[in-house]
Formats: sequence, C-alpha cells, structure tokens
Amino acid sequence: MIYSRITGTGGYLPDKVLTNQDLEKIVDTTDQWIRERTGISKRHIAVEGQNTVDLAECAARRALASAGRDAQDIDLIIVATTTPDRVFPSTACLLQKRLDRHGCAAFDIQAVCTGFVYALSVADKFIRTGTAKCALVIGAETLSRVLDWTDRSTCVLFGDGAGAVVLEAGEEPGILSTHLHADGAYEHLLSVSGGVGQGYDSLKEGNGYVTMKGNEVFKMAVNTLGRIVDETLEANNMEQSDIDWLIPHQANIRIIQATAKKLKMSMDHVVVTVDEHGNTSGASVPLALDVAVRDGRIKRGETLLMEAFGGGFTWGSILLKF
Ligand code: UT7
Repeated sequence: MIYSRITGTGGYLPDKVLTNQDLEKIVDTTDQWIRERTGISKRHIAVEGQNTVDLAECAARRALASAGRDAQDIDLIIVATTTPDRVFPSTACLLQKRLDRHGCAAFDIQAVCTGFVYALSVADKFIRTGTAKCALVIGAETLSRVLDWTDRSTCVLFGDGAGAVVLEAGEEPGILSTHLHADGAYEHLLSVSGGVGQGYDSLKEGNGYVTMKGNEVFKMAVNTLGRIVDETLEANNMEQSDIDWLIPHQANIRIIQATAKKLKMSMDHVVVTVDEHGNTSGASVPLALDVAVRDGRIKRGETLLMEAFGGGFTWGSILLKF
C-alpha cells in the first residue's frame, strides 16, 4: 500500500504590512471593530511588481529545503490559487520555470479558500496511485489585487501570502483521508462577478472585485465546518480527543473558535494565524501549518485535522499523521 506523507513545509509573507490602524485611514472602520468581529490585527500585502508566483516560489524553496529535496526530485507541481499571475500559462507552469524543473506535470487548482485542501487531496491521489512520488503542493494568493479598497466589508479581511508542502510516497501514512465538497448554488453569496471568459469589459465598474454577504457566509461556514469535522472523524473511526492539532482556514477567529468547540478542543491545540495574516485564502492552511511546524508546536507523529471553507462554495478537510 502506498501512502503520501508531508516531508517538508514552507511559507512566505510579503514584507509590506498593513495594520488595522492603516485601514482606519482608508475606509470608515476601526481597529476595535476589525479585531472584535474577525480577530485580525494586521495582514501582509504584495507590493507592485510582486505577484503570486513570486510568493509561491519563496514558499516552495523553503518547503524543498525543509524536506531536504531539490527541485529535480519533484515530479508533480500543483498550485492552488484564485489570483494567478496570468490567464495562462498556469502559475504552476510559471513556478516550474523558476525552479528550472522541466517535464513534470504542473497545473493550478481553483477552489478559492479551500484551494490548498483540494490541491493536497489531488496530490495524495496521484501518489497513492503511483503516478507521482514527490509532489510540491502550494497555496499562493495575492487577494489584495481583487479587493475593492473602498469596500470596508471586504478589504479589511484579506491578505497576501503563500504556503507550500512537499508530499512524498511512503509505506506509512501520512494522509489518512481527504473530504472534498462544493455547492455552486451559493455563488451569489461570495464571488468576483467578472471574468476574462466574459470579456475584459466584465471586469470593469467594480465587477472585478470580491463581493460577499459576510453574515450569511459566516453562518454557512460554521455549520458546514461542524459537519465536515463529524464526517472526517467518522470516516476514520476516531474521537475528537484523537486529534492533536486543528489547522483551520483562517477567515475569522469566531469561525475557528466554533469549529474548535465542535471538536471539544482547547484553543491551545488550534493553530491561529488570522490575527497576523488576515485571510490569505488558498494560502492560509499551509501557512498556518508551516508556522506551527517551525515554532516546534507540531511534532512528527501527531494527528492533524485541516479544514477550509470558501467561495464556490467549496469546503473540505484532510486528516493526517504528520
Ligand atoms: O474565506 C472565505 C469565507 N469567508 C468567511 O468565512 C467570512 C465570513 N464572514 C465573516 O467573517 C463576518 O461575517 C464579517 C467579519 C465579514 C462581518 O461580521 P458580522 O458580525 O457578520 O457583521 P455584519 O456583516 O452583520 O455587519 C455588522 C455591521 C454592519 O453595520 P449595521 O448594518 O449593523 O449598521 C456593517 O455595515 O458592521 C458593519 N461593518 C463594519 N463596521 C466597521 C461591516 N464592515 C465593517 C468594518 N468596519 N470594516
């Protein structure tokens, strides 16, 4: 039996920091409102000329170094992103060129905030079927580029960043189970309504920016993530107490707390980065993983539950032995 296992992690955040106090000068908001309603105090923003592939490359190189691998060892590259640099080639192909790796499969996955969970799940299937042996899986976003900086209900929430893992074949798990879902019926609650397939004019007059009915998304996120926690535990015949660490998508501290409560888990065992990163969409889960691996909280052999919910709607979870 072939399993897949994370052998290295990496993360990257742009140097430029935007605090809540900075946002007070841009839109009608307060540090207090943002912290109380979301848990966010600051976020990192890519500067002009710094694009998703730049962030992805930094995170990827760090993950390769932590796995003790060279780019030539990689036989699959998947980048989860909703903010690709170009219409094409994919960000994964642009990254492949940067890494001077030629010939292996490389493609993007677009599942918004659930993107990394989707990408890691797909890479797991490639490895389990023997199609790949050493995959580079990245979540990378420059969400700041699709925000309306006059809309206080969205611009305070998001940030830019990238997180990466190296996933390798082995005889021991590794990834225990993956659970992916989507329901396109809710696209009106969270979307960017324009797109290049409708012609460039469709991106004008605000249609190129994120719009969200925040409160409705919030309620759906809490309920849906509660259900996927049950689904994941049941599929593995596990109890809440078997989970060592929850690595949630970082959209809102109150959503994270609700999922932790569902797991009867103390917040000491939940990795929280939303305060410092904001919501980095597809990058948030691998960034949180990398932070807690590097600061020594997450140790080899521990059981981790990753989960995410986002535009689409898409949602998913992954249970794994680190
Ligand atoms: O990652 C993808 C998934 N996304 C999410 O999971 C996000 C889910 N949603 C949320 O996190 C929360 O719904 C928000 C943080 C977006 C909003 O929090 P809320 O508690 O749901 O607030 P609300 O939308 O019900 O708005 C409450 C009030 C409104 O004013 P009125 O109508 O009560 O007078 C808003 O206009 O807060 C106002 N408001 C703000 N006030 C100050 C909205 N944004 C701001 C702001 N600063 N930035």
